[in-house]
Amino acid sequence: MTEAILLVGGKGTRLRPLTVHTPKPMVPAAGVPFLTHQLARARAAGVEHIVMATSYLAEVFEPYFGDGSGLGLRLEYVTEEEPLGTGGAIRNVASRLHAGPDDPVLIFNGDILTGLDIRALVDTHTASGADVSLHLTRVDDPRAYGLVPTDADGRVTAFLEKPQTPEEIVTDQINAGAYVFNRSVIDSIPADRPVSVERETFPGLLASGAHLQGMVDSTYWLDLGTPQAFVRGSADLVLGHAPSPAVPGRRGDRLVLDGARVAPDAKLTGGTVIGAGAEVGAGARVNGSTVLDGAVIAPGADIRDSLIGAGARVGARTVLDGAVIGDGAVIGDDNELRGGIRVWCAAHIPPGAVTFS
Ligand code: GTP
Repeated sequence: MTEAILLVGGKGTRLRPLTVHTPKPMVPAAGVPFLTHQLARARAAGVEHIVMATSYLAEVFEPYFGDGSGLGLRLEYVTEEEPLGTGGAIRNVASRLHAGPDDPVLIFNGDILTGLDIRALVDTHTASGADVSLHLTRVDDPRAYGLVPTDADGRVTAFLEKPQTPEEIVTDQINAGAYVFNRSVIDSIPADRPVSVERETFPGLLASGAHLQGMVDSTYWLDLGTPQAFVRGSADLVLGHAPSPAVPGRRGDRLVLDGARVAPDAKLTGGTVIGAGAEVGAGARVNGSTVLDGAVIAPGADIRDSLIGAGARVGARTVLDGAVIGDGAVIGDDNELRGGIRVWCAAHIPPGAVTFS
């Protein structure tokens, strides 16, 4: 049975302020910590033993997921004293694996929402006889990603991190953040120092003649690293566009968690989530947004593609579009916040202080 490593130790700087008190994989998406979706999908693909590589805010994972038996998994946690980067984190958990030297081990970035056929990746790896196999996906604008061109047999020919010039953009295939490593390759990563699997391990393996296989799977894929992507991913889980066995309740336009109070004439659409104990007032409209536990949306507020932190308050008639409101922040009545604005945790915006003409 295939084992897996989950990389969940990153600082999640792009997702601030949501990641100030909560590590990115624990921010709720479609009503449960995002990591739950990944764990449930791995379990559905036949994975039974998962080692979590933790670092930033490491202490919150185990109290929530425990030994994993609630999800039918056997979970272990290994915490880095200093962050070791993606490759260092993989090497650091090697002692917990049971796999033999030639056995495959799955590795997942902890911030990817995807419908990847996990078994197909393992089967491709085994059939091709590769040392490492990578899930690749195609994107329209590859500049923010690591490009991975392959030959006619799917064998990786190069790794190009965040290319900028048109000459560098030789493919639209990118590293999608899920890998299969032969156990012996994991053991060959240097121990006790930071290593980037993307920048050091993969190019090094290629240069030494190792066989790296790419598998293009163009199913649903989203890197939840930014607030906009996180909100989109949560909405797609609720709408059923992104597959997960862990979404509580039925797929549809909205997910209202137990203990939330929503006025009868409030309109919740586009995969909106209303967290436990949250309130939505009369006439409020919330589209494609995530409202975390205990937040309050006052009457007449109009919210689109936004993330409202736990216990935050959005004032009456306030308009939010593409905004991130930190936990416990208070946005007064009659404000208008648009276009990627981030309000820090517990910040206070007085009534009518911010408007657009
Ligand atoms: P940003 O700071 O916003 O770039 O996010 P991040 O810290 O999560 O970095 P990135 O998205 O590049 O990380 C990819 C995956 O590797 C994520 O699942 C991270 O949790 C994980 N990761 C990154 N660095 C480390 C590390 O030093 N240790 C461990 N255990 N995991 C890491």
